[in-house]
Amino acid sequence: MIRPAPAWPLPRLFAHRCGGALAPENTLAGLVVAARLGCRAVEFDVMLSADGTPWLIHDETLERTTDGSGRVAATPDVLLAKLDAGIRQHPAFSGEPVPTLAAAAALCRRLGLQANVEIKPASGYEALTGEVVARAIGELWRDSAAPLVSSFSFAALAAARCVAPQLPLGCLWTQPPADWRAPFDELRAFSVHCAAEGLSDNFLVAASAAGAPVLCYTVNDAEQAAALWRRGVSALFSDRPERLLPAAALHD
Ligand code: G3P
Ligand code: MG
Repeated sequence: MIRPAPAWPLPRLFAHRCGGALAPENTLAGLVVAARLGCRAVEFDVMLSADGTPWLIHDETLERTTDGSGRVAATPDVLLAKLDAGIRQHPAFSGEPVPTLAAAAALCRRLGLQANVEIKPASGYEALTGEVVARAIGELWRDSAAPLVSSFSFAALAAARCVAPQLPLGCLWTQPPADWRAPFDELRAFSVHCAAEGLSDNFLVAASAAGAPVLCYTVNDAEQAAALWRRGVSALFSDRPERLLPAAALHD
């Protein structure tokens, strides 16, 4: 018997990388900005440190978003905790730390934000990252609705599914491949996440027939957003959530 995919109450809009462009990406300050704006949901990226702890960070290396250098996967927790994630991105947020998943989960819950946790494994750590992040989510959100969990890595999602049979999963592709149903069904995924550019109506029809909500990144223009919602896209990730919020409320 095929078990149904776990469902998840989708909002129309997710602030991308916590607070979009309004705060340093993947930070607690971004979560606060998103909540103050009135966003119901945020997306952020999670990778493992050298100690196997999940931290919010997008790149495999530290240089672009922090004042550190080197590979995240080779950096121990004690050093990640000292880094400044504000100074290179948004000097007004200097001193803003790189958060752990635990800190982000606690703040999301306190602010009432739904979360899309994107598993962003360093190369070679796909399955380990999927397993560790899924287990951590089970603990961190144990007495409330779990976040939606997505990844470009099938291996990461498969490992997450092994340890968390009810976790809502999103298959993330730049463009969904022609045979998207095979990995989607194998994972018992809930949603498909993809770039807004090149999204075809044929795919939207097929996804709708499969009961798969489609979520698109990264949309910063209110007219483009309204057109995507009209075409049947369920939700959007945005670096400019303040521009899309009024229209998102109309489509909710
Ligand atoms: O999860 C949607 C989007 O965040 C995927 O791309 O590179 O911004 O993590 P990226
Ligand atoms: Mg992401």
